[in-house]
Amino acid sequence: MTDYLIAPSILSADFARLGEDVEKVLDAGADVVHFDVMDNHYVPNLTIGPMVCKALRDYGITAPIDVHLMVKPVDTMIVEFAKAGASIITFHPEASDHVDRSLQLIKEHGCKAGLVLNPATSLEVLTHVMDKLDVVLLMSVNPGFGGQSFIPHTLEKLRQVKKLITTSGRDIRLQVDGGVKTDNIKEIAEAGADMFVSGSAIFNQPDYKVVIDKMRGELAN
Ligand code: DX5
Ligand code: ZN
Repeated sequence: MTDYLIAPSILSADFARLGEDVEKVLDAGADVVHFDVMDNHYVPNLTIGPMVCKALRDYGITAPIDVHLMVKPVDTMIVEFAKAGASIITFHPEASDHVDRSLQLIKEHGCKAGLVLNPATSLEVLTHVMDKLDVVLLMSVNPGFGGQSFIPHTLEKLRQVKKLITTSGRDIRLQVDGGVKTDNIKEIAEAGADMFVSGSAIFNQPDYKVVIDKMRGELAN
């Protein structure tokens, strides 16, 4: 049986009470904390940096922190987030002049590494770096904002990436990010995803456990 991971995106959390809210979502059954970093340059929005990642660690959050870098350039932030307690670091290949080097940098700093593909990014970029990937993250919305609708074409792309991963024989997580909800998580899993980022669908509900349990129920069916 596939071991599915649910990774709430804290972009939709209560930033005024971030430690408590992250604790609450983990107590509700989340596996991983998805941490969206936006720089108002690579994407038209501005969020949080390594200081906030460190603050969550200092607060006592021990769950894996999955840092999704939507910044350009990436290398300085890779080093800073690794020092701040990140567990996984992913970045967009368009944002690095030297993708292979940036992936190596993540590994050298003891984190799991991944590439993020925008809805219009070709899968070609994966070809020569499969051996360095722990995660492939497919964006199912254009990056920059929470609360957007899932782009249906992502399902076909997921199937294609799943094939590439299976062919490689490597243990690579297939993550999907954007518009993931209780009513589409099953078909997303059927297309090959095993790690689900979900922000607004979880944090906009009063009881996170109800949503996460429902997601797990869908995945078990
Ligand atoms: C978008 C971010 C996502 C987003 C997910 O750029 O990478 O993580 O916050 O939010 P929802 O689940 O609301 O689409
Ligand atoms: Zn994200």
